[in-house]
Amino acid sequence: MLTKELAAPNDLEAFWMPFTANRHFKAHPRLIARAEGMYYTLTDGRRLIDATAGLWCCNAGHARSRIVEAIQRQAAELDFAPTFQWGHPLAFQLASRLANLFPGDLDHAFFTNSGSESVDTALKIALAYQRAIGQGTRTRLIGRERGYHGVGFGGISVGGIVKNRMYFGSLLTGVDHLPHTLDLEKNRFSRGQPEHGAELADNLERIIALHDASTIAAVIVEPVAGSIGVYPPPKGYLERLRAITEKHGILLIFDEVITAYGRLGASSAAEYFGVQPDLVTTAKGLTSGTVPMGAVMARKHVYDAIVNGEGAGPEKAIELFHGYTYSAHPLACAAALATLETYKEEGLFERAAELAPYWEERLHALRGKPNVIDIRNIGLMGAVELSARPGKPGERGYDAMLKACDKGLMIRITGDTIAMSPPLIVTREEIDQIMDRLGETLDELE
Ligand SMILES: Cc1ncc(COP(=O)(O)O)c(C=O)c1O
Repeated sequence: MLTKELAAPNDLEAFWMPFTANRHFKAHPRLIARAEGMYYTLTDGRRLIDATAGLWCCNAGHARSRIVEAIQRQAAELDFAPTFQWGHPLAFQLASRLANLFPGDLDHAFFTNSGSESVDTALKIALAYQRAIGQGTRTRLIGRERGYHGVGFGGISVGGIVKNRMYFGSLLTGVDHLPHTLDLEKNRFSRGQPEHGAELADNLERIIALHDASTIAAVIVEPVAGSIGVYPPPKGYLERLRAITEKHGILLIFDEVITAYGRLGASSAAEYFGVQPDLVTTAKGLTSGTVPMGAVMARKHVYDAIVNGEGAGPEKAIELFHGYTYSAHPLACAAALATLETYKEEGLFERAAELAPYWEERLHALRGKPNVIDIRNIGLMGAVELSARPGKPGERGYDAMLKACDKGLMIRITGDTIAMSPPLIVTREEIDQIMDRLGETLDELE
């Protein structure tokens, strides 16, 4: 008799797909079988150029042998080791590498398994920090409209995408939001950072005037809003946010789950913009997407207040009651170390910086295509915003994704905005391929 497992039909129903139109997908599946370099191959043999680095994560490209072999070796050598009250050498090696990679004294790494976990971790560290320095009344967290900080309750509370929030109850209390920074009237078709909007950061002063600084622990923003459809920060905006938070004793958290590890042509957005946050959340590019892993980078004063401060308790006491079974998983550490080595040896961050002007030029050449109402870019990130079909928001974007797939191109969509972020190994010829295929897609799209 066949076991249930062996007898199971090839049924697409069992997998409840995340952030997916399950009914349409299961009627018209797009199944990915293989990946190599810049390309995905579907189970039906079609080859797609990957203009999204998977999900903003495969910055080194796919199936890179150094990373693959490191994971394989590690699985045989040390499959798992607890990091609660134990350790293993790779975790410390990786943390030291990261401390060197991030600017200033962002010298301490707390490991997680995803961007969402990194966000929750950073918010909790911010609260614990304020308490540790005797500022326990500071419990409010400030996010920004249209921000994406993953899907944990912390992340959706400070996040600002309505569909990610509206179904899930009252969320965390004591959260407020800055206004978003997209201003199509003033900044449409800006190249890189838009000219107008630095003053939007001053809304933080209004929020502080409303709640009082003594109640606010931290502000979290994506330095470049990614998932909503690539909003580079207006010139001067991040600097103002830093100045205001510093003045009022509020921690500044940069959510760099997309922007860290080369996306802007620098190790991080903090480095790229020359603005020093207190905490940085990362994931994705840390392992080039190969093994789930995230890291929160904390500055020295944050770590010291919690771990070496007066409230830390006796030496044998745990200082921070937080962590994940798989924090600093050996396979993830091996993957991350090999990934960072690949970035360095191949100069991929510098390469991204060199290619960014060409990326910008080719992307903005799509201006004038049907339904295109804005184009935005920074580093190797780009977005093409389409007008919505009357009464059917998101449908034109969805159809663009399907048509691009037919043309051998993988793009990402948020509503009617197309977002792209190719692996940093992309060549000029491949940028041409991406833009040519996207151009044809837009020409043919209704
Ligand atoms: C800025 C930002 N924060 C957090 C996340 C959540 O990451 P994950 O899906 O790994 O939980 C994302 C994912 O796209 C992100 O872009």
